[in-house]
Parts: sequence; C-alpha cells; structure tokens
Amino acid sequence: MFRFMNMSAEIVVRSPGRVNLIGDHTDYTGGMVLPMAINRFTTITAGPLAGAIQLTSADQPDSLNCLLPINSPASTQPEWGRYVAGVATQLNVARGFSGSVSTTLPLGGGLSSSAALELCTALMLCLVNDLPPLASLELAQLCRRAEHLATGVPCGIMDQLTCASGVAGSALLIDCHSLQVSPIKIPNDINIYVQFIAHRKLASSAYSDRVTQCDQAEQHIGPLRLAEVSSVPNITDDVLRRRAMHVVSENERVRRATVALALQDMTTFGQLMNESHQSLRDNFEVSTHQMDEAVRIAQQTPGVFGARMTGGGFGGCIVIVADSTANVDNLEGATLVKPVSGAKVIS
Ligand code: GLA
Repeated sequence: MFRFMNMSAEIVVRSPGRVNLIGDHTDYTGGMVLPMAINRFTTITAGPLAGAIQLTSADQPDSLNCLLPINSPASTQPEWGRYVAGVATQLNVARGFSGSVSTTLPLGGGLSSSAALELCTALMLCLVNDLPPLASLELAQLCRRAEHLATGVPCGIMDQLTCASGVAGSALLIDCHSLQVSPIKIPNDINIYVQFIAHRKLASSAYSDRVTQCDQAEQHIGPLRLAEVSSVPNITDDVLRRRAMHVVSENERVRRATVALALQDMTTFGQLMNESHQSLRDNFEVSTHQMDEAVRIAQQTPGVFGARMTGGGFGGCIVIVADSTANVDNLEGATLVKPVSGAKVIS
C-alpha cells in the first residue's frame, strides 16, 4: 500500500536528443541551423524533496546528492550532475526532487545528451515548485545559461531549442538571431542515420577558441550572419578568413538545403551536406580523421544522398541521409533515427 502511494507521487519527464542535419558552428553568431529532435531520450522519474536534489543514474556509477541552493554548479560532483546543478541555480527554487535518470542517448556523443538532461531537470523543478510551465523558448534559454554555468563552454542555443521544440516528422529551421523556429517536413521515404564515432568532451578550449575567432572575424566584416561570401577575402588573417568562410557559406548552405528539403530534392540536399562537412573539416577544423573516414565511406555508399559530421565536432557522431534502398550494413553502428516532438511531462 505504502509503495503504491509512493509511486503515484512520481512524476516522469522526458526530453529527446537532437541531430543536426546541416548548419554547424553558426548558432553562436546568430546564424541558421537545420536540426531535428530524435527518438532517443533522457527520462527523469522523481518525486518532490525539500531543499535537495537526489538523483541516481542508470548509466553512471555515482549518484548526485546536493543541497539547494547550489552556489557553484561547475564544481558539483559527479560531473554529470553539473547540468542538473546549473538548471537548479538558474531557477533558484527551494524544492528539489528525489528519483532516477536514464537515457538512450550516447553520453558525450554529440547528440545533446546534456541539453536533454537540462530540459528534464527544468521541467521537473518547475513542476515540483508549482511554477507555471515555461514556453519552449524560455526553457531553452534558461537551459543554455545553465550549460554555460555548468561547463564554461559558451555554446549557442541550437541544442536546447531543438530538444525543447521538436516537431514529429519535421526538421526545424532555426534562425538563431530572431529565434524563429520553422518546421520543415522530412519526406517519409527518407532515412536518417547517426553513426557514433567517438566520445568527446566539447574540448572547452577548442570550442571557445572558435567562438572567439568568429568574434574577431566580425570586427573585420561585421556580423557573420549578414555577411556575403564575397566580403570574406577582405579578412587578411588566414585562420580568421577560413573561420568566417565556413560560417558565411554554411548559413547559405542551410538556406539552400531548406529549400531543397521542402522540394524533396534530396540530391541537392545531400550535396550541401557533403560540402558542409568539407568546410567544417578544412575551414573550421573541428572534424577528426576518424570522422572524415566514416563520412567518406558513407558518402560512397549507394543510396546515400549525403553525410557529414554533426554537432560541435572533435568526435561525436556523423549524420547520413539516404533513400530506402541504401544498404548501411557496412557503416558500423549506423542507427536509424526519426524526428520527434520536444521535451515534455509524461505523467
Ligand atoms: C555544440 C553546441 C551548439 C552548437 C554546436 C555546433 O553542440 O552546444 O550550440 O554550437 O556545437 O553547431
């Protein structure tokens, strides 16, 4: 009887991860991205707890036990608890929760497992504190700030906003300046695969360096989101010129890829993905040899329209878009993913 009463007090919240189809390292300069939320999820099941958060993980050996309020999320132990602590600090609430977390996303795999954990935490904390539910955009902005607090990595809004506002059956065109989200339907006969390559920790210094270099490039040619490819050669420094070339051309590729997707012109869409990979590899230098090799093999597979690294890079996953005839058996671990709706309270 007691057990039954306990269970009925439990709340279940769930957030998908995301894969980015095209448009990487554009979000933090207010550029364009085209990701989708995927059917791999993080779930927290918990009940209210005054003044503390206690969370066991099905995927990590150590549990999180912390008192509220949290003063220094970035030094919380275990490390995965920092994302939870970052959200709790942002919401600054008195009531926490006690329960468990599990995920079907690879951890540190470039599919936004951290954004999914942040969103679950925010949904749970709002519920147990009787706060009015936050709109997807507010939720995403809060979780982005939480990630900055937790890791010091100055990430953009793409991951949190995609996981918060996913639409079943669609990719999301996001203008990271206006923050407008426009669903673009993905044709039913198109298969999207993610292939896990290697664990990565968003090498905070390398990611931050790229953010700084984009800032510096903007001092020469103005906001990269508004710049034309023809103005990029005005940057004399070779590294900054290549960084800017990636961002400016990637924004253009996202726009063209969106039109191609809407027209179901998957050949053009795939070519743009392939060009995106080349630019991330050569101009932005965030790929790895292992990812390049996997992308090359995928691109040569009959039925594959395009393949590229996805997300922040330095490891993680590649994304492959193919027709239904493509035989992906030679692409070790390639997993079919479907576009799904965003983070929500399940019960
Ligand atoms: C990481 C960041 C995002 C974005 C991507 C690269 O996933 O969290 O904000 O910058 O890298 O597109």
